[in-house]
Amino acid sequence: MNIVKTKADLYRLLDEQRSFSNKIGLVPTMGSLHMGHLSLIEVAKRKSDFVWVTIFINPTQFNDVNDFKSYPKEIDGDIKKIRSISKEINIFIPSVDEMYPDNIPLEKFNFGDIDNILEGKFRPGHFNGVATIVKKLFEIFEPCFVFFGEKDFQQTLIIKKIIYKFFPEINIIICPTIRDKNGLALSSRNKLISKNSFSKCGIIFETLQFAKANYIKIDFVDLLVAIKSKIETIKNFELEYFEIRDEENLVIYNQNDYKKSFRGFISVKVEGVRLIDNLPF
Ligand code: PAF
Repeated sequence: MNIVKTKADLYRLLDEQRSFSNKIGLVPTMGSLHMGHLSLIEVAKRKSDFVWVTIFINPTQFNDVNDFKSYPKEIDGDIKKIRSISKEINIFIPSVDEMYPDNIPLEKFNFGDIDNILEGKFRPGHFNGVATIVKKLFEIFEPCFVFFGEKDFQQTLIIKKIIYKFFPEINIIICPTIRDKNGLALSSRNKLISKNSFSKCGIIFETLQFAKANYIKIDFVDLLVAIKSKIETIKNFELEYFEIRDEENLVIYNQNDYKKSFRGFISVKVEGVRLIDNLPF
């Protein structure tokens, strides 16, 4: 298992690995790995000759300093978890200076409108930060395959746009959301929630299922009222948004548009921690 911290060391290994047209599979993460990440690594292992997992809490995608500071960090545990899948997997754990060596202002991406809605609305600049780091990683690794989770559906659309524009040779594989027993989508942020609130978090996925079963029958305004009251009757739970949008361009749901596939998107603050989820409708 190679654990590498600098780009110089990384390039030495990548040069060897890329010979004979070996396929590099890249799993970018911010660490604090859970079964969702591990499922991505499993798929990466099946598809690629060499798998690289990156662990980097990317400061430029946090609009809130406290969110950045409190983001869970468990490097030793992460390495153990990756090793339990395979000792052949490579890990890149760069420092902030390694990824942002000079104070060059961030590249400004234009994603049309899809970065200003849903997560983008509540986290201004977030997707520009994601795009910045993902583009850097793609440039460094030149992967054949990259692996991302469906839980961050909006993020996957942004990354598809980056691939389309800058890296047409990269194949993106989107893997299904992995859920806790109660339906809660796994996320590193779940670790920040108290046991008591955690035991009630199943309501988020239940609400999405309720919305899926009813959005055709109930007027959206009434649906939203029902959803808000379901969530907010629980102490310390606050609905940030619930929206139904199309899966391709995140255009808002219109019941007359039969050609589009729609998806429900939800964000709930639990004890101030933002939890997001989505479901195809
Ligand atoms: O989804 C994440 O964990 C992060 O946004 C990513 C893609 C690793 C970029 O920092």
